[in-house]
Amino acid sequence: MKLLNIYGTYKGQTRRICEFLSEEAKKSRHNVALIEVTENFHNPKNFDAIIIGAPVIKGRLHSDIYQFLLDNKSKLNNVPGIFLVVSLSAASNDPESRNEIERVTHDFLKKTGWHPDLIEHVTGPKSHQLDIDSPLSGLNKIRSKKYTDWQQVKEILLKLEKKIEKAQSESCDPSLYSHAGRYS
Ligand SMILES: Cc1cc2nc3c(=O)[nH]c(=O)nc-3n(C[C@H](O)[C@H](O)[C@H](O)COP(=O)(O)O)c2cc1C
Repeated sequence: MKLLNIYGTYKGQTRRICEFLSEEAKKSRHNVALIEVTENFHNPKNFDAIIIGAPVIKGRLHSDIYQFLLDNKSKLNNVPGIFLVVSLSAASNDPESRNEIERVTHDFLKKTGWHPDLIEHVTGPKSHQLDIDSPLSGLNKIRSKKYTDWQQVKEILLKLEKKIEKAQSESCDPSLYSHAGRYS
């Protein structure tokens, strides 16, 4: 498949996660375009699936990703897609923190109009800078030493492959996935 992987990052972890995903996808012989959202890239076309990666900083998802989704939602809604949300809250066992990050993600997606098939919450590293105020409650309670779970990241790719297979088998309208003749 032709996979488009777009990400935004502030501190670099979402880039590392997406680079890792891209390498895994290449090992599975997929054709991958890995692009940072700040690159001059505004017209995605000819792709079979999309992974969008965005971090949460101070209770908000990446603003350039927001604009990208707003500008491209109609194309993105026509292909299987995964939204990969990187945050510290993903490591939390506190239901309050988990609920808040899910609410932030839900509100963000609702405003953009993009409907990904799957939302994956991935843990980013804790930073001492987190002591600065974040509107999300409970963050300072997270004592987890756990950083990104690379096995979880690997499985994201498998999930996407399954979504594509399902979309192919369910689609009665070949034009809906007209560019999808090159799935491998
Ligand atoms: C200044 C700062 C603020 C952050 N605010 C939040 C937050 O509100 N909620 C959260 O879950 N994680 C928060 N984090 C953790 C980040 O989501 C995590 O470090 C992530 O890996 C950042 O992604 P990036 O490295 O791609 O920029 C914050 C991190 C920093 C450095």
